[in-house]
Amino acid sequence: MKLLVTGGAGFIGSAFVRLVIAERPDYSITNLDKLSYSGNLENLASIQHHPNYRFVHGDVCDAQLVNELFEQERPDAVVHFAAESHVDRSILSPEPVFETNLRGTFVLLEAARRHGVGRFIQVSTDEVYGSIEPPAEADESWPLNPSSPYSASKAGADLLALAYFRTYGVPAIVTRSSNNYGPFQFPEKLIPLMITNALEQRPLPVYGDGLQVRDWIYVDDHCRALLTVLERGRPGEIYNIAGNCSLTNLEVVRRILRSLGRPESLIQFVTDRPGHDRRYAMSSAKIQAELGWKPLVDFETGLATTIRWYQENTGWLERVRTGEYRQYYARNYEQRDAELGRLVRLRGR
Ligand code: NAD
Ligand code: TYD
Repeated sequence: MKLLVTGGAGFIGSAFVRLVIAERPDYSITNLDKLSYSGNLENLASIQHHPNYRFVHGDVCDAQLVNELFEQERPDAVVHFAAESHVDRSILSPEPVFETNLRGTFVLLEAARRHGVGRFIQVSTDEVYGSIEPPAEADESWPLNPSSPYSASKAGADLLALAYFRTYGVPAIVTRSSNNYGPFQFPEKLIPLMITNALEQRPLPVYGDGLQVRDWIYVDDHCRALLTVLERGRPGEIYNIAGNCSLTNLEVVRRILRSLGRPESLIQFVTDRPGHDRRYAMSSAKIQAELGWKPLVDFETGLATTIRWYQENTGWLERVRTGEYRQYYARNYEQRDAELGRLVRLRGR
């Protein structure tokens, strides 16, 4: 099977590429990635010279490049990860989010329609369902109710993929996963940000009251689900991929502090995210019943592995925390809370 993976230099895409190269010797991968701030070829260093792997530096919005790739490679399947993936950045600068997440998905679907492809996996998120009152859990027929520019763009891209299935017969499948964590995650998302700040004894900025609930899935469990859907999922269907591990943000942060032996006084409550969804919750009964997938890594084990990885990979961390990261950090957190901004500046980051 020839795969065209987009966004394979990012956090989840690179875990998927590593998994496929390790476990499917008869698959080959072309990875199309723009190398935006979160794309990092270091994430693929372990497989970069593998004969079944090829990297193409480019933008999914570049229709000419995408069409050339389809002509040259004739991929059997597309696994589409490339996205602007962060809610806070989508609030600060929505435009690139709509460009990549909507237009990029459109360009790929058009190429898939024109050239033909056996499967098109649209990698999406539980955030498209919006905030869900307890004790409900969204199944795949739950109404879409996105709150942020990020989740609205993902909802739009999901609908486009499903429309291309119904109208043109493009064999698209939408997957919706809950919050991922694990090694190689860019330190703008909750878990890596809190681990790295705690390691350096910097304040841990918790939005609002910290009682928002997220469902956590270890990245390798998500990638196994994607491989299962790619190989056995039904075109035109949606599959939820839940971690079955619902925790408040405050609980996650406390567990990180406990694991590292750091004091809770590092927690700093800061101004809430605008439009912040209170609770995400999904049922993944469908993928479990139809395809036999379930998550294997419990949160305690996954978190311990993740913390150890960040402790052992300080070079990776330093290299991704470039001037761009520092500018983003200042913009997102200093504006949010004057006190935290003062602390951030005092510590010289
Ligand atoms: P990430 O930000 O780590 O990686 C995104 C990758 O896409 C990067 O390598 C980046 O360079 C690339 N990219 C961005 N714009 C591009 C463009 N225009 N053309 C080509 N490449 C481009 O994100 P991630 O966390 O790995 O998320 C991957 C996918 O999974 C996204 O579609 C995201 O919506 C989805 N998802 C993420 C989570 C999560 O918890 N992180 C949960 C559910 C779904
Ligand atoms: P995040 O990792 O950005 O994922 P998402 O918004 O896609 O769920 O955030 C997870 C939760 O953590 C979310 O409720 C926002 C919260 N959060 C903080 O409280 N502080 C932070 O510094 C960050 C980045 C997130």
